[in-house]
Amino acid sequence: MSDSERVALVTGAASGIGLAVARRLAQDGLRVVTADLRDADVAADLTTREGNRAAVEHVLERHGRLDVIVANAGFQHVAPVQEFDEDAWDRLVALLLTSPFLLARYGWEALGASGEGRFVAIASAHALVASPYKAAYVSAKHGVLGLVKTLALEGAEHGIRATAVCPGFVRTPLVEGQLEDQARTHGVPVDEVLERVVLAPHAIKELIEPEQVADTVAFLLGPAGRAFTGAPVVMDEGWTAR
Ligand SMILES: NC(=O)c1ccc[n+]([C@@H]2O[C@H](COP(=O)([O-])OP(=O)(O)OC[C@H]3O[C@@H](n4cnc5c(N)ncnc54)[C@H](O)[C@@H]3O)[C@@H](O)[C@H]2O)c1
Repeated sequence: MSDSERVALVTGAASGIGLAVARRLAQDGLRVVTADLRDADVAADLTTREGNRAAVEHVLERHGRLDVIVANAGFQHVAPVQEFDEDAWDRLVALLLTSPFLLARYGWEALGASGEGRFVAIASAHALVASPYKAAYVSAKHGVLGLVKTLALEGAEHGIRATAVCPGFVRTPLVEGQLEDQARTHGVPVDEVLERVVLAPHAIKELIEPEQVADTVAFLLGPAGRAFTGAPVVMDEGWTAR
């Protein structure tokens, strides 16, 4: 199958990592359908069943096939557990864990029909280790790694491969948007948060660029990615080596 035939659905593609992934896959010749709250081919709230169904149905109606799902949409909520807003918990779990499940569920038959179906979740180093004040995010990211392992086992006989890309901190609005919350909860001046809090767990004190994550996704979707399934693909500047 040539890349010009392959169809990819990328969620959360209006910003950050999703935008970089959508651009890279389009450059590689895939037909890319984007889903996000706004500024996407499908405007959908992916915390809902209807939103996830609409995204998959849009792809199938427009292209009649679906070869690649990149489940990327996400946000963060930073608060100590005893103050953690319960609605924020529900929304985070819905977006980071249940949306990837629903996308796989609704797209499963099409991924199998592809013969070379690929499911990539943009998880996080937080799929492997925790940080304080991120109870919902860490729980959901650990969960999505479990989902990917299960999809890999169920998908094997249908030619479907599933992986979880696990980056450290990436230069996107999601990280920039939590600097003030991090400053408040950690009691650190906002201009020192990046170095003292955000990059503290990285062995290499650099933010990852969204294009580096897109390169990794492109690799996983290519021929060299065929051996990767049911596993975290860690790109975390040495964070989880500790
Ligand atoms: N930035 C990082 O350091 C980092 C590190 C590891 C993993 N990640 C993961 O990468 C993914 C993308 O994050 P990012 O940093 O590019 O963030 P971002 O804020 O730049 O982009 C996230 C996108 O998700 C969309 N989104 C949010 N809620 C949505 C909803 N209910 N329905 C549909 N779309 C919704 C937003 O509109 C936005 O376009 C997330 O899953 C995040 O957890 C990010």
